[in-house]
Formats: sequence, C-alpha cells, structure tokens
Amino acid sequence: MADVFPGSLTCFHIEMVTTATSRESTPLPQKRGFVYKAAGVAALGGLLFGYDTGVISGAALFLRGEFALSTFQLEVVVAGVLLGAAAGALTGGRFSDLFGRKKLLIVTAIIFAAGAILCAAATSSSMLVIGRIIVGVGIGLSSGTVPVYISEISPADARGWQVSLFQLAITVGILLAYIVGYAFAAIEGWRWMFGVALFPAVVFGTGMLFLPESPRWLTQRGLHAQARDVLAHMRGTQEVDTELREIEASLSHAEERGRWSDLLEVSLRPALIAGIGLAIFQQITGINTVIYYAPTILQSAGIPSASGAILATAGIGAVNVLMTLVAMRLIDRMGRRPLLLTGIAGMIVTLALLGISFRFSDQGTLAWLAVISMMLYVASFAISLGPIFWLLISEIYPLKIRSSCQGLAASFNWGFNLLVTLTFLTLVELLGASLTFWLYGACAIASWIFSYYFIPETKGRTLEQIEEFWRAGRSRRVA
Ligand code: BGC
Repeated sequence: MADVFPGSLTCFHIEMVTTATSRESTPLPQKRGFVYKAAGVAALGGLLFGYDTGVISGAALFLRGEFALSTFQLEVVVAGVLLGAAAGALTGGRFSDLFGRKKLLIVTAIIFAAGAILCAAATSSSMLVIGRIIVGVGIGLSSGTVPVYISEISPADARGWQVSLFQLAITVGILLAYIVGYAFAAIEGWRWMFGVALFPAVVFGTGMLFLPESPRWLTQRGLHAQARDVLAHMRGTQEVDTELREIEASLSHAEERGRWSDLLEVSLRPALIAGIGLAIFQQITGINTVIYYAPTILQSAGIPSASGAILATAGIGAVNVLMTLVAMRLIDRMGRRPLLLTGIAGMIVTLALLGISFRFSDQGTLAWLAVISMMLYVASFAISLGPIFWLLISEIYPLKIRSSCQGLAASFNWGFNLLVTLTFLTLVELLGASLTFWLYGACAIASWIFSYYFIPETKGRTLEQIEEFWRAGRSRRVA
C-alpha cells in the first residue's frame, strides 16, 4: 500500500499500522458465532431497504391503472420513499445517539411493518403515498443506524465484511424485489408485492428483541457493567479490558457534548467532509438510474422485447449481489482504499462505454455492449462505492455523535438519490442518453480524485484508533 499511495497518505497508513493490532484482543473465529448472528439479524434492515426501494419498479406498472394516476402523481409515489428516507436518516441518527441503537432498530421494524400493511391495503392514492413515506422513514432509520450498530459490535479485523453485510442485504433485497415483481406481474398482484415486506420486517424486529445493545453506546451512557458483559459475550472472552479502556478514552473529550455543533469542531471537519462527500458521489455517479430504470435503458439501447429487458435486469441484480460478496472477501484484507479506487476506475470506464453504446445504438449493433457495460458498471460499484460508503460512515465518526453524523451523511445520500432519480429521464430527453452517462462518468472522475485525497484507510483499526487519528489532525492531505 505504501508504494501504491504516495505522499502524505503513506505517512497516514504507516502511522495507523504501527499503532495497530497489538492493542486489540483478537478472539478466535469459532468464538465469534454470536457477533456474526447479531450482524446478520441487524442486516435485515438492509434487506428491507433494498426490497422496498426496488419493488416500486414492478408495482408502478399496475398502480397507474388502479388509481388513475397522472405521471406527476406516480412520481410522487416513487419519490415519497426517498423523501421519507432522507427525513428518517436525519432524525434517526440523533434518536439512536439519545435512546440507543437497539431500541431504534426495533421501532424501525415496526415502521417497516406498518408501511407494508398500509401500502398493501391502500384504497386511494393518498393512502398509498402515506404508506410509501412511512416505508421511506423506515429505510432512512435503518440506513442511519444499522451500519453503526454492526460497526460497534464488530471486532476490528472483521468490521469491514460485517458492516458490508448491510450492503449485501440491500442488493439481495433489490434482487428479491425484481423476482417478486416478476412473479406477481401475471396476476397484477401489486398488493402482494408491497405486502411481502411484512415478513422480513417481523423477523427483523423479533430478532432485534433478542440482541444486546451496542457496548459502545452502553459505555457512553455510563452503563459500564452491562457494556463489559455484552463485550465479553460478543468477543467470546473475558479479556476485554483493553477494548473497554479505549472506548472510555474516546469519551473523555469534554469539549464534545454530543450535539450537532460538535461537528463544526476543526479536528472533525475532515471526517465530516469525507462522509458527506462520499454520500453525494455514491449517488451522482448514477447507480440508481440503472437500479431503478434498467429495463427502460436496455430497451432504448436496442433490446426489443420487454421480457429480454427484464431478464437482463435480473442478471444485473445478480451481478450486484455476487460482486458485493467478492468485496466482502477483500475488504478486510486489501483495505478500503485500494478497493474503492479500483472500483471507481471501473465505473469511469464502463460509463464511458455505456455512453458509446448509446451513441451508436441507432445502428442496432451495440445493444450487447450496453448490457455488458451496465453489468460491469454495477460490478465496479458493488466492490467500491456501494459497500465502502456505508462502511466508512459507520466507522469514521467519534462515538459521542457517531449515529448523528452517520444519519447526516445518509440523509445527504437520500437527498442526492432523489435528485438523480427525478432528473434522469429529463436529462436523457435534453442531452440524450449518451451525454447523460458521460456526465455521470465525469462525476465518477471527480469521485476518484476526492477519494484519493480525502478517504483514509481504516482497515484493521479499532473505532477508537480511527477517532484518535482525526483528532491528531493528521488528515489534511491536500495542502
Ligand atoms: C445505495 C443505493 C443503491 C444500492 C444498489 C446502495 O449502497 O445507497 O442507493 O440502490 O446500493 O446496490
């Protein structure tokens, strides 16, 4: 790594490595069963996130007829989730810092369930919109809290792949939504499409009832004995003193009172910029144009049949899942930065190719190039901006305001998701598909440069070591 990333980044990496693993108690993998299960249950929040964002593409076909929706009303139904998610992420992070991760996630599951029931039973378009906004709030709460919860229970050397379970669950949720949409399309079963989400919501909420609170949040609340018990159970050993001491030390910064204003502290500003920047870049590089509009894009690229386009879309969903699995294998070994930079480079190339395939699609020969480019583009996203954004924003903020900061970054992500989703079709009309994808390609170039200069390597570090790194002011990479 030192050879690959020159200059001040190298200093950063070396410093982090030399203060590294000796201080961390490394439990044996076979004793980690409980923490793996806990992360798996919490990740169900991601499955609901993916399912509920993906399901609309299948259901939308029937909603128009059922409620005689105008295009604008349909857009409101689609955007309702994103608006709710932005609001949920922003407020949920704060609530989870105040009331705890576990309680908030149980409430999140109840909200998901209520939203699913309302949408499935909707008798009017306004009931549907309200249902979708409620589902959106659930998604926002989950995106603001699940990664933090997993990050705080995970041992440092496995945190990368465990938090990435959240992204894996999102991709599985999206794929399931495509499959369920396809399965119920024949009977116009849009109510089923929405209603199916009730089952994972119930499993998620019930599962969370049996999981402990985050040991880091307990320490922050002064519940030291409980924090010790939870940590010992999670780590499978009583030797957790070092980790507990580090957590307590990270809370000793009296200047931070756990309020929004702490974010303006100079030493925390680089972390704030890193999280919000990545949140914006994850969206403005265009991933959801493919996730939400793949069949439409594929048809206009020259794939004639609707079923061919839907099949190719399912293929794209499967690539998303598989490549996220690959990222999970690599993330704690290779580190976050190499994966991030390689994946974004792949996105730049594939967006350029996508633009080319549209430029010549009128000749009818390059539809295959569009399909392959889209698959490779999603694959590149799945090993980089997909999992690494959610991972980084769960690990780079100080404990006292961790969830609030994560929520803030997540709400930026939802806000820009909304912006891209609402402007994509208009951009295609104005600029043409080819230029639109090149525009996202230009954003991907900016995203690579941003990541190179502003994103730190956090592999193998405890959350407290990462916190100390920012405080020491060693993060200013651009003079
Ligand atoms: C993004 C979502 C996107 C999904 C695709 C997530 O990381 O936040 O907006 O739909 O990845 O896999």
